Order: sequence, then structure tokens, then C-alpha cells
Amino acid sequence: MTDHPIIAVDGPAASGKGTLARKLAAHFDFAYLDTGALYRAVAVSVMAAGGKVDNEADAVAAAKRFDMAQLADSDFAARLRTAETGRAASVAAAMPDVRAAIILAQRQFADTPPAGKKGAVLDGRDIGTNICPDAVAKLFITARPDIRAQRRWQELKADDAELSLATVLNDIEQRDARDAGRAAAPMRQAADAHLLDTSDLSIEEAFAAALALVEEKLNR
Ligand code: CDP
Repeated sequence: MTDHPIIAVDGPAASGKGTLARKLAAHFDFAYLDTGALYRAVAVSVMAAGGKVDNEADAVAAAKRFDMAQLADSDFAARLRTAETGRAASVAAAMPDVRAAIILAQRQFADTPPAGKKGAVLDGRDIGTNICPDAVAKLFITARPDIRAQRRWQELKADDAELSLATVLNDIEQRDARDAGRAAAPMRQAADAHLLDTSDLSIEEAFAAALALVEEKLNR
């Protein structure tokens, strides 16, 4: 148990978890970590070294090289959010040794939030179940696949005019299956997490609902 609050926000791709986690962190002035960026960084690092993400030795070596400073590198950061990187990140994330290599960085962030912040918000797939099982508030954010595909397509199409909505939906469905079906820390709602479906909510409505759930836990 840490002496400061930790908020865990999990859920599938494009469910709105990143937006909500960022807004919660800003609201409480807590530190924020997008843990998906670590898996994405591993994927970019494998590709930059000329390796293959489905080759376990290449992926594990990249995970062992991982350093939080990589996330601040602008060339690197620009490659993190592509559809290809999302796909590759989910392949690497299924490998137990990849997960083991970057678990400490996530726990250290939660245990000692940077910049003297008084709490931390982490978003991902296994924060409530595995990285921070003692988090004071846990949210599992979801939305229907067609809605998530529409949202992700809107984000990605500006940089990739060729990308179709059908491809994005297919990617999301494959990624959901891989993330929920893997043996190592699969994506799942923790027993003590609140489920929030954002399919029919605006960002403001979803944030109001998330904030109410978190405040209730923090004030207990
Ligand atoms: O932004 P989006 O929800 O599309 O994905 P992300 O959060 O950046 O995560 C990319 C991939 O990393 C996911 O599909 C998961 O396979 C993996 N991941 C994970 O396994 N555990 C986490 N805590 C975070 C991400």
C-alpha cells in the first residue's frame, strides 16, 4: 500500500481511457502515465533496430533497453501513435518477458510520482489487476467496437489517408482478442473496478461520470 492515491484506468483501444485518465490527472494535479506508450515504445525500438516484433528475442532485448526518456524523444514519439505501432505493441505485449522487463518502470512511477505530485493516474490494460492492485480507485472504460473504430479512424486518418474504417475496426477486434486472450496479464476488469461504457457519452459526460466514481472512492 502506498500513502498516496493511485487511480487505475483500464480498457480496450479507443474506449476513451486515455482522455479520461489525462483529465483525471489534470483535475487532481496527479502525475499521469500512459502505459500503452511503453509497449508502443518497445515496438518502435524493435523496428528501429531492424528486428521483428514477433521475434521474442528482438522484443525482449528492446524491452530491456526501454528507458522513460524514450517517451520524451520527439522523433520517437511521432512513431508511437501509428496503427502499425499499435498492432506491433500488442504482439510484443503478449510476451511475458517483455512485460517483466517494463513492470518496474510502471510500479516506480506509481510508487514515486514524478515532479513531487501527490498521486498518480496510470492507464492501460492490467493496471487494476496487476500493476497497481491496491489502487484506491479503479475504472474499466469500454465502448462498442464500432464506436471505438470510428473514434480511432478519426484520429489516424489525418496522417494516413489510405486507412479505411473497416481496417481500423478489424485491427481493434484483433487487438481486443489478443489483449484479452493472452496468458500474461490479460486485459480484464478487476473485481473491484467500476465499469464505464462511453459509447453514448460525450467526453464531458464520460468525465463527469468517471470523476464522480473516483471522488466517491477518494472521500471514503
Ligand atoms: O491507445 P490504445 O488503447 O489503442 O493502445 P495503447 O494503450 O497504446 O496500448 C497498445 C498495446 O499495448 C495494447 O493493445 C496492449 O497489447 C498493450 N498494453 C498492455 O498489454 N498493457 C498495458 N498496461 C498497456 C498496453
